[in-house]
Amino acid sequence: MKVKKIAVFISGRGSNFKAIATEVNRGKINAVIDIVISDNPDAAGLRYAHEQEIEYAVFKKKKDQSRSEYFVEISEFLKRRKIDLIVLAGFMKVLSSNIIEEHRNRILNIHPALLPSFPGVHAQKQALEYGVKYSGCTVHFIDEGIDSGPIILQEVVQVFEDDTEDTLSARILEKEHTIYPNAVKLFCENRLIIEGRRVFIKQPQ
Ligand code: GRF
Repeated sequence: MKVKKIAVFISGRGSNFKAIATEVNRGKINAVIDIVISDNPDAAGLRYAHEQEIEYAVFKKKKDQSRSEYFVEISEFLKRRKIDLIVLAGFMKVLSSNIIEEHRNRILNIHPALLPSFPGVHAQKQALEYGVKYSGCTVHFIDEGIDSGPIILQEVVQVFEDDTEDTLSARILEKEHTIYPNAVKLFCENRLIIEGRRVFIKQPQ
């Protein structure tokens, strides 16, 4: 089976990137992280990329550049590198339709809530304020909507009465660090089958 080439997109801390890189390094994921892309030159995750000798590139959106032009530039860059999978890991820009079309069903994202509840920003705060008793995280394919693509894996956490946004986020993040590498692994083993909105997981060969 061909080893997949991954591009990880980050904007900040990069803890999900680290969790995935750790599993790649342990040989658990049939992939190499070919490049880390950030829209933010100060993203803490870039330091980790540097330490691990993983190549990275910063794409800052120029003032005269439209969002779609910005993503065409990134998409061309990825095409030259023959990237198989884009992993969004705390990347704070909404992708434009051209890059989504170019990499249809080859872009994953993680969201810190049980989709379709609480899409968009501050998902943990939204969940807490709504009063749900359980929340969690979701790995899904990207489509043109906000956090609306086909769901691959979800994990549940309990919400406690004394939770703050920070404590709930930390409990969810721990689960993110397990399900995101697992979903990437499944993708890289060609085990994810999309039928409409549903994603089926094939048994290993
Ligand atoms: C995570 O909470 C993830 O669910 C959301 O952005 C955050 C990224 O955290 N999409 P990190 O940069 O991976 O630590």
